Amino acid sequence: MKTYSIALIPGDGIGVPVIDAAWQVLEAAAARANFKLEAKRFPWSCGFYKETGSMMPADGIQILRGHDAILLGAVGWPAAVPDSVSLHGLLLPIRKAFVQYANIRPHRLLPGVEGPLKSGGFDILCIRENTEGEYSGAGGRVHVGTPDEVAVETSVFTRKGVERILRFGFEQAQLRRKQLASVTKSNAQRYSMVFWDEITEALSAEYPDVEVKSYHIDAMAARMVLAPESLDVVVASNLFGDILTDLGAAIQGGLGFAASANICPDRTSPSMFEPVHGSAPDIAHLGIANPIAAIWSAAMMLDHLGQAAAAANIIKAVETATARGVGTRPGQDRTDDITAAVLSALT
Ligand code: NAD
Ligand code: IPM
Ligand code: MN
Repeated sequence: MKTYSIALIPGDGIGVPVIDAAWQVLEAAAARANFKLEAKRFPWSCGFYKETGSMMPADGIQILRGHDAILLGAVGWPAAVPDSVSLHGLLLPIRKAFVQYANIRPHRLLPGVEGPLKSGGFDILCIRENTEGEYSGAGGRVHVGTPDEVAVETSVFTRKGVERILRFGFEQAQLRRKQLASVTKSNAQRYSMVFWDEITEALSAEYPDVEVKSYHIDAMAARMVLAPESLDVVVASNLFGDILTDLGAAIQGGLGFAASANICPDRTSPSMFEPVHGSAPDIAHLGIANPIAAIWSAAMMLDHLGQAAAAANIIKAVETATARGVGTRPGQDRTDDITAAVLSALT
């Protein structure tokens, strides 16, 4: 029987219960589709940092490399460990080391979910550059603590990095409604963002079947609220994509519904699947975290592993549950009840 080895990193806060939920659904879906998933659980988290002084062991990346995919909950517990330490010690190095340059985040309303907008008919695929740009980590501080202090955080955009994420966007658009929105801020940022616009323009000749439009990030933020149905595939830099996808989560009913996949497109290393949301310290331990974002991310993982039918079964089960109202009442629906409803809707 085909067997996949999955590295589970539940992480902090609600990462733990939502990964438990996703794993239950994954196992049930795999059993129905005649393949096997083997989990290896890694307790890497802020608690692990408190015990060991690091977010993951020194050979953590090597350990993960041996798996077919990684399923991650959330990282960060700012009351115990500064975010600048925890995220740079676990989540961000994984994305970079495994060249997971395409972060895919779908935004649409599941049946029964009421978003905040009048318009419900949107289906957006955000593609976020995931390895460079504003998250390059280049920078520093001088004259620390003095009135002359200066802090610099340099965005690094490489031709290779920009070209590959834009190509990925064009290819995704070809599989969908053939519209690509490329997001920059080239009116103000005249080096990196003009560079991005130029590459978009040059590549568009190679994808004549895709209609490409360039938007500034500020205008795109407004468009996602006012006319989200006008958008198909949206491609943006690391930071712009980060912000737009919390906005996307908001219009799809909240962070509890927003899934994501950190893809290494050439498959030279494992891809990682995780909900868009964080550890939600404000509701951790209350038993009310919505596991749907994590379950949807798990379905994206199965799809990536070549188990499209099992992935579709999970998505259909989630839709059956939400159509009945399950998971659509934030603060009232319990994690366990939502998980049970999805499990019982699997076919
Ligand atoms: P957050 O996403 O954890 O929470 C924002 C708000 O959304 C909170 O009110 C929370 O209760 C709510 N929320 C989030 N997910 C939910 C769910 N599944 N069900 C119901 N409500 C949900 O963002 P934050 O508060 O800015 O960050 C908390 C910590 O998580 C920080 O350490 C941050 O750096 C980290 N973080 C990690 C990731 C990640 O690991 N991928 C992503 C975002 C934030
Ligand atoms: C996300 C998160 C991370 C990011 C943080 C926690 C570093 O917000 O996955 O969207 O900005 O990429
Ligand atoms: Mn984010």
